Amino acid sequence: MMGKRGLFVLLLAGFLLFLTQCSSGEKRVGIFLYNGEDPFVRGLNEEMLSQFNRTIYRPEVFDALNSQVVQNEQIEHILENPVDLAIINPVDRLGAHAIIRKFRDENIPVIFFNRQPLERDLDLWDSCFYVGATAEQAGQMQARMIMHLFGDDPDRLNGYDRNGDGVIQGIIIRGEQSHQDSEIRTREVRDTLSRNGFSFELLTSVIANWNRKEAYDKMDEVLNLHGDILEVIFSNNDEMALGAIERLIEKGFFRDSNGNGRIDRQDGDWIPVVGIDGLPEAVRAIGAGTLYGTVINDSTSQAGAIVDLTGAILSGREPEDSPDDLEKGKYIWTDYYPLVSE
Ligand code: BGC
Repeated sequence: MMGKRGLFVLLLAGFLLFLTQCSSGEKRVGIFLYNGEDPFVRGLNEEMLSQFNRTIYRPEVFDALNSQVVQNEQIEHILENPVDLAIINPVDRLGAHAIIRKFRDENIPVIFFNRQPLERDLDLWDSCFYVGATAEQAGQMQARMIMHLFGDDPDRLNGYDRNGDGVIQGIIIRGEQSHQDSEIRTREVRDTLSRNGFSFELLTSVIANWNRKEAYDKMDEVLNLHGDILEVIFSNNDEMALGAIERLIEKGFFRDSNGNGRIDRQDGDWIPVVGIDGLPEAVRAIGAGTLYGTVINDSTSQAGAIVDLTGAILSGREPEDSPDDLEKGKYIWTDYYPLVSE
């Protein structure tokens, strides 16, 4: 018997199907999103939908609303009427183990994206792949932006070292704890600063689960405790950076204190905040002078790699025939790009 929740999931799936059924293609491709409300994932999904040739492919999108239970039900449902290939953004990356076994039993190839399964799980089967960006690069680029802003010389920091103690005081706003990107980006920010001789004092790190509202809320306490000595905010993504900026503005930061008609780095209460993703709103915030910089998480290339790989697999060619480099027969990586205000 189908429970209320199951019915809800199917109704939702039906709704999303309605959204994508303008395709006439024969090849059915299931796209499973961990959470369609996540702006980065939503943008990536839109990219995929725009890149799939609808005369060949029929993409069907399922939104798990951030629940692995819902995603499992959606997968069970799709296995009753199997698609030709599944593109999966798992809610819990450890959940990939069970997912791979299910698709392997039905011989349906799987491409994971954005939330990286463990290597040993991907090794369970030849026909499962991962498309993503190298999180190390993102953390390194954020650190480089800040080293540059502070004058590129660890022994002689410039005026952005507000208290002149030769140490950069900052905080890190982190994404979900179990997500590879939060762990690696955070680690690389700190390692890159120290590898280059910069002293960094981490005043605190807060977890805001990629979410703007959570970052906004958590900034209250951070600013009460450290607002006076804070010199930089590293955020694991743009959404949380934007939440932090909203709070900073309410607390009196980012005013046009020198009266030159705009908010910029010359204003006394300006503080560098750096994000990751390159969301349109973040790019606008860079233009407005609040966000110092972001690192573009190239969703166009990731979507392109997924679409190309799908094409190679479903046309009976070898996955290696896809135009993108396939590392270890499994992984396609895209590069990040820094973007800072002038
Ligand atoms: C993005 C975040 C996003 C997360 C979702 C990360 O790669 O940078 O913005 O929320 O993926 O899994």
